[in-house]
Amino acid sequence: MAKPVSIEVWNPSGKYRVVSTKPMPGTRWINLLIEQDCRVEICTQKKTILSVEDIIALIGDKCDGVIGQLTEDWGETLFSALSRAGGKAFSNMAVGYNNVDVDAANKYGVAVGNTPGVLTETTAELAASLSLSAARRIVEADEFMRAGLYDGWLPNLFVGNLLKGQTVGVIGAGRIGSAYARMMVEGFKMNLIYYDLYQATRLEKFVTAYGQFLKANGEQPVTWKRASSMEEVLREADVISLHPILDKTTYHLVNKNSLAIMKKEAVLVNCSRGPVIDEVALVEHLKQNPMFRVGLDVFEDEPYMKPGLADLKNAVVVPHIASASKWTREGMATLAALNVLGKIKGYPVWSNPNQVEPFLNENAPPPAASPSIVNSKALGLPVSRL
Ligand code: GLV
Repeated sequence: MAKPVSIEVWNPSGKYRVVSTKPMPGTRWINLLIEQDCRVEICTQKKTILSVEDIIALIGDKCDGVIGQLTEDWGETLFSALSRAGGKAFSNMAVGYNNVDVDAANKYGVAVGNTPGVLTETTAELAASLSLSAARRIVEADEFMRAGLYDGWLPNLFVGNLLKGQTVGVIGAGRIGSAYARMMVEGFKMNLIYYDLYQATRLEKFVTAYGQFLKANGEQPVTWKRASSMEEVLREADVISLHPILDKTTYHLVNKNSLAIMKKEAVLVNCSRGPVIDEVALVEHLKQNPMFRVGLDVFEDEPYMKPGLADLKNAVVVPHIASASKWTREGMATLAALNVLGKIKGYPVWSNPNQVEPFLNENAPPPAASPSIVNSKALGLPVSRL
């Protein structure tokens, strides 16, 4: 028998019971659900990662939909429990959904939502921050100041890497990878090399136009190249940011062999998913190559770091905060709530999940649609014509 978990209840008399496994930022998401006759139950248990048993207890005997988090294991057990409770909707409050077994959700006819479109720029900005922090040794220098070690300017103090004119490498040039590439090209006048199965035409056009603009102003133009392999990016780039999804093909994409072909003074950034990097091999590489630096937002065994990583000065580490801007997190909560609400109300699925602005406009009611359901085709859900 699972132990009861503490909850906060909004609109107790609401017809549809929607559970959120965590308190989420903002209040709009709660109001939107309440306005549509939902009773909202928010888990307030002081436990960062809820177990499957905790979530089963939250689902209970009657539950119409659940908003969950990327730390939770949404597989056969939870989808069958949700289906038994009459639930037909689940949404991750995240764009990534490698914690969700979509086949299991399909089996029980549960719609699975995610939150694309609202976190692109925020995540790209963190990748850019990590790139700069690692290249310019910001965290090391900050620690040095706070330790009272600064006793005057020195020519060799915390010398790092200049980005201007160097090459930024992007592996996975989808929404976030392309936004990051634009920031680094435009902001720091870096040349671009990228690897993606699909051609990033808009990104290429942007870099071409920006290069022409620089040239017309008497500056060195920036350039772009689409690499034919990931190795080409690793070999040639000075700063590399990883933006693939995590699946069987991208597990340990960066490993001992790929690290060995990178420049000795390269900067590697990961804001995608931890297991994309073999973290044990990375720790060893960082030890052997003190001028090689990393900026990591995600870790292979989150929330843990592999032994030795925390001791390395050439690693900047932050706790999976890439999407953590107020606007984005409130927007993610709204989209997740609307994904669940849309399915409960029988609304169609929004036709372009990357164009979610109408759902985020606080001054107008959101469209009657679920913003992003990843298994809409498998479940044969109708698509909005708006
Ligand atoms: C965060 O990691 C997300 O996938 O939204």
